[in-house]
Amino acid sequence: MEKLTGLKKIKTAVFISGKGSNLKNIIRFSKIKKSPISINVIISNTNKARGLNFANQSKISKKIFDYKNVNFAENQILKFLKKKKIKFICLAGFMKILSKGFIKKFDGKIINIHPSLLPKYKGLDTHNRAIKNKEKFAGCTVHYVTAKLDSGKIILQKKIKITSKDNPKTLAKKVLKQEHKLYPAAIKKIFY
Ligand code: GRF
Repeated sequence: MEKLTGLKKIKTAVFISGKGSNLKNIIRFSKIKKSPISINVIISNTNKARGLNFANQSKISKKIFDYKNVNFAENQILKFLKKKKIKFICLAGFMKILSKGFIKKFDGKIINIHPSLLPKYKGLDTHNRAIKNKEKFAGCTVHYVTAKLDSGKIILQKKIKITSKDNPKTLAKKVLKQEHKLYPAAIKKIFY
């Protein structure tokens, strides 16, 4: 990713499917002077994503795309992103897998946050699996998105201890707290 040279913030879209706590935090970060990005668009595959409320609150344009036909949905999203001059994409709990073709159009410009210490525990249900396997550490990772799920180059990672008292729920809560710090730090790392 090219480094930031001008004063203009990079127009960014955040893709969500759920409660959007990372989105909320990225929006907050984007508003500070030192943020390299501005959040201009929020995209979701479902109108049930609670995080969409943050779009209303912060007056950011939001759009929901029906994923019944993936190809069609992705083409519509690409058109929309082009219209809005979006140059960078942050996935934050987006539950759809982007196609190779889509990723190619934003090559090296899509990042994601994953609730595990990648390359361990790709995919879903990470906390449950980590506890079952008696892991000593859990964590979160911000990485570039490539066609292979949760496998792109790692930008930043944060490790936390799993205690004997942890269950998937408490662990998820602890990790999420770290995610909120890690995502902005990773964005800074990319552009500065
Ligand atoms: C986070 O745990 C993130 O790592 C994963 O999905 C969850 C999204 O949470 N990809 P939220 O919607 O940002 O609160």
